[in-house]
Amino acid sequence: MRTETPQPVRLSDYRPPTHTIDEVALTVRLAPQKTLVSARLKVRPNPKSDAGPDAPLVLDGEAIELRGIMLDGVPLAQGDYAVTDESLTIARVPAGPFELEIETACNPEANTALSGLYRSNGTYCTQCEAQGFRRITYYPDRPDVLARFTTRIEARRSDAPVLLANGNLVDSGEIEGTEKHYAVWEDPFPKPAYLFALVAGNLAVFEDSFTTMSGREVALKIYVEPGKEDRCAWAMASLKSAMRWDEETFGREYDLDIFMIVAVPDFNMGAMENKGLNVFNDKYILARPDTATDQDYANIERIIAHEYFHNWTGNRITCRDWFQLCLKEGLTVFRDQEFSSDVRSRPVRRISDVRLLRSQQFSEDAGPLAHPVRPSSYIEINNFYTATVYEKGAEVVRMLHTLIGGQAFRAGMDLYFARHDGEAVTMEDFVACMAEASGRDLSQFFAWYEQAGTPRLIVTDSYDETAGTYSLTVAQETPPTPDQPDKKPLDIPFAVGLVGPDGQEMPLVLDGEGAMERPVLELTQREQTFRFRDVAARPVPSLNRGFSAPVRLETDLGDGDWLFLMSHDSDPFNRWEAAQIYAKRLLIRLAGDASSGAPLADAPDFAEALGRSLRDQSLEPAFKAELLGLPSETDLAGEIARNVDPQAIHDARRHLQASLGRALSGELQDIYERFATSGPYSPDADSAGRRGLRNAALGLIAMADGERGAAQAFEHFRTAENMTDTIAALSALTRTNRPERDRALDAFYAAHSGDHLLVDKWLMLNAAIPFPETLERVRTLMEHEAFSITRPNNVRALIGAFAGLNPATFNDPSGDGYRLLADVVLELDPLNPQVAARLSGSFKTWRMLEPGRRALAKAEIERIRACKTLSRDVYEIVTRILG
Ligand code: PHE
Ligand code: ZN
Repeated sequence: MRTETPQPVRLSDYRPPTHTIDEVALTVRLAPQKTLVSARLKVRPNPKSDAGPDAPLVLDGEAIELRGIMLDGVPLAQGDYAVTDESLTIARVPAGPFELEIETACNPEANTALSGLYRSNGTYCTQCEAQGFRRITYYPDRPDVLARFTTRIEARRSDAPVLLANGNLVDSGEIEGTEKHYAVWEDPFPKPAYLFALVAGNLAVFEDSFTTMSGREVALKIYVEPGKEDRCAWAMASLKSAMRWDEETFGREYDLDIFMIVAVPDFNMGAMENKGLNVFNDKYILARPDTATDQDYANIERIIAHEYFHNWTGNRITCRDWFQLCLKEGLTVFRDQEFSSDVRSRPVRRISDVRLLRSQQFSEDAGPLAHPVRPSSYIEINNFYTATVYEKGAEVVRMLHTLIGGQAFRAGMDLYFARHDGEAVTMEDFVACMAEASGRDLSQFFAWYEQAGTPRLIVTDSYDETAGTYSLTVAQETPPTPDQPDKKPLDIPFAVGLVGPDGQEMPLVLDGEGAMERPVLELTQREQTFRFRDVAARPVPSLNRGFSAPVRLETDLGDGDWLFLMSHDSDPFNRWEAAQIYAKRLLIRLAGDASSGAPLADAPDFAEALGRSLRDQSLEPAFKAELLGLPSETDLAGEIARNVDPQAIHDARRHLQASLGRALSGELQDIYERFATSGPYSPDADSAGRRGLRNAALGLIAMADGERGAAQAFEHFRTAENMTDTIAALSALTRTNRPERDRALDAFYAAHSGDHLLVDKWLMLNAAIPFPETLERVRTLMEHEAFSITRPNNVRALIGAFAGLNPATFNDPSGDGYRLLADVVLELDPLNPQVAARLSGSFKTWRMLEPGRRALAKAEIERIRACKTLSRDVYEIVTRILG
């Protein structure tokens, strides 16, 4: 709990550690309320430290009880050290190597923050990133201290038959004369404390093995709660395909003889890449056709791969300090994106990544929480596991790949692994490898890591018919963000194409330079003009193909141009993008009409173009499903950016969905019938794409025709043979206000109340119902037996979804939605500050709102800030949001 005003930590204050640790031997004696930890550390002064060998030893520690210290075998007396809430300082330590033995105690059962050692549904588990290890023992808890760990775990066999930690099992057995047993694990790879993990409990295991490229056999084990073994097959298959892909694509082989994954129900994040012992939120492991949707299957595949890929990008090479978080996260997200692009559909994965980037990162970048991919200061590092660090961080790596090309990129990665294996490094080190491998100067490019805000590209064009030349002028501009009023021009890869009037791709011949090798323009100045020659007719430009840069585009293309690109662009991403832009323009006009009470028009041209795409045999079903998905309400709010009326946006979007549903009813019903499932469920991308298209069609059908649509959706629910169809039916129904909706929701709960993952889906569906009654519904559900505020998945499903996926109701003009969120933040903060802080981030766009809602939201954020005992986590978010 906070006592003084929290102070920021700054990148510019980085100093190498005064001491390094070569070895850690932990003994952990598990007991629910009093776990005893003994840590034997081999310490030595760090020759690279600028503090000299006489520097005191300062160890981090939090929420643990110190029970004794020995230095080189001699117990220290009270006056030899000082303990505060956050640290243990030993003023005088030897100038050479020495051994320290520290005894502490902690209480796993009382640990509702889920950082350090805690219990999840009876299983002991740890979460140490970013700063959880200090809640287990006193330690230099920073990523640039790398040590070899040995972990001995002791527990009553009845309490915890399975005992796991990082590395290889080297010993185990009974402890004579007790009911306890022990296991000793040894991790040969030096690692920072944030990658430490320990798990103990009554767990079942699902096993397999993998033969690496050099012929080594690796044992693969997935641990789950007993009875869930039959939901592990997909996670295991995904792991094996990720291991193979990393060998084939990056030449990276796994390095231990065993790789373990544990699934737990209570977890602050998605999953964690601890060395050899990944710990997962169980929603990203468990899947069976009758319990998981296609979306769940895809997420599992992606997150398993992500955590596995961290073994090289994160674990073997780690971050020097937490400002470099994007070193491991941006790069590893890029790697997991490439993995799914290779094993599934590249355009479809790109579309879903850009959707996520737009809805989460663009809104972050445009508001008070904007920060660079590599921030330069923070109060609480847990607040920086953001869309900017992860998603924009991945975009920056992708831009590097685009600028220097795939071959040079691979060479740069090889160099990075060769040069920095076993080290804790910075963004500069990573980019230097790419610069060396490509022979390019990337100094201007580096600003992508340091400059916040989404750049705007303003594109104008002109065509000279007699000369046969076509010019594109591109101006770039990055808006001011907190603490960064002035921006430098960035180095931007801008992929383009020219589409001729006949819909055919035109050659790209830059005046004075000849045919372009790759269709990528490089923008480096505030304004640049590119002139193409041999352009026989006025083209329509296809800009920022594949979303080659994470920017907002401003062009003077008209509705007709967008419809044209939607049908003819050879770049599939830009076909989708053209439909999005067209829809966005349309929806913004409709929202304006809804706000002023004007009648809302239909969109026959758009419907016709969509209809043409739906009939196009060359397009894959998953892609067509994406075409039918209109821009989100959050995206539209971000585009409008001022005096936003969330209800008008919602009404406009509903109207367009209903209108498209009516205009396309023939095509939609045809799809619904033709793609009816037959045969057993298979989670592969093609089958998922067909279900996705059929379910997207159902969604529009349900919007189009209240009575019949709801009846069809209810029938879909009743006859569903897999969870994908069940959830699709329910989400179509939640958007209607018809009795079938609650009938289906009640039936779903009755059938699945014993399955916590399905209960979370049910909570989320309830929270997303876009009508004012939902406010009351959410308050009631918080009292329901299915909900517990100490379970992060419950909180995210009910409250997170309410604030994030239901803008019309969260922003109810009464202010009740804001009050509800503030109440939850204040209740949760003392229990789990990380999750409370993330929830409070839902207020980040309050300044964009129209004046009435803006004032109500502000009052609730101020009410949170007025609390005297706020955690650092929530304190930082609300003070930044208020600005
Ligand atoms: N490092 C994890 C990942 O992205 C995320 C995480 C952060 C998990 C902090 C727990 C705590 O893969
Ligand atoms: Zn990660």
